[in-house]
Amino acid sequence: MLGKGVGVRFEVGARPAAVRLRPEVTMYSGGSDGGAAVQAKKVTVPELQGRKRGGPPLAMVTAYDFTMARLVDEAGVDLILVGDSLGMVVQGLSNTLPVTLDEMCYHGRAVARAVRRAHLVGDLPFMSYQLSAAQALESAGRFLKEGAFESVKLEGGEEVAEHVRRIVRAGIPVMGHVGLTPQSVHAFGGFKMQGRGEDAATTIIAGARAIEEAGAYAIVLEAIPPDVAERVTAAVEVPTIGIGAGSACDGQVLVCTDLLGMARDHAPHFVKRYAALGDAIVDAVRRYVGEVQSGEFPGPEHAYKPNRPGLRVARGPGSGEA
Ligand code: KIV
Repeated sequence: MLGKGVGVRFEVGARPAAVRLRPEVTMYSGGSDGGAAVQAKKVTVPELQGRKRGGPPLAMVTAYDFTMARLVDEAGVDLILVGDSLGMVVQGLSNTLPVTLDEMCYHGRAVARAVRRAHLVGDLPFMSYQLSAAQALESAGRFLKEGAFESVKLEGGEEVAEHVRRIVRAGIPVMGHVGLTPQSVHAFGGFKMQGRGEDAATTIIAGARAIEEAGAYAIVLEAIPPDVAERVTAAVEVPTIGIGAGSACDGQVLVCTDLLGMARDHAPHFVKRYAALGDAIVDAVRRYVGEVQSGEFPGPEHAYKPNRPGLRVARGPGSGEA
């Protein structure tokens, strides 16, 4: 139900984390639906599960802020993941381990304000669920209450099955994650492909089965050989979502900055860059710097009407007009 406030429309009765303020006049490219106000039908967990048999394959992408979430949601992704990869992508860390539950919730709330259609998943960060099933349930509950997430993702196989079961029993949907689980980076000796050799493949398949049996609604398969991903996908009734796991999965996920070519240095070989936004951004900002320095920006069209029309407004230092 929508109510009216001073210059804003808001959802009456919503809890704070879920409130979506929509200022009618806005600044700084934020907080507005750009006039689109698309009442898209939300993607649901049962619908995602149904796509295993009915297709089309699921498209998931990460997002960490309002602006990116609004764009990827409009582009039609089925799921948006606020990954703990934000430690690396947003915070510039060398791995995901320091990311906290409060940080995840902060980004979750920002993303949730933008999302109209996609299902919103949040990554439970390192040490927010490993201690016990009770700790996992408490963290998952906070994700829904404070992070505005609709489901949670956690890493691991048989060792976290009990945790998954406990969370699912509380009515919180859980996505699993096996193969290269980045929170185990030190145990793996780096971000290395997993599942090479029959023993390793069998462990991954058994892990996926265990978390499916515990009630997970989907499972991410990261950095494993494509034939192992195919075997996992055949072994479970829930959709598998691959990243560096080949084409046999029921869906794919990529980190938004990778697929958009925003990180201009290294990207793993399994990433396909659909744009070169890093180059475009550097080029655009370079032109901005040049125009500020030359006095070309801002022109009169970018300024408010002067108090005294007709009076010539000076340009900045070095423009010869100050
Ligand atoms: O943290 C993340 O972004 C992820 C995806 C790469 C699956 O876990």
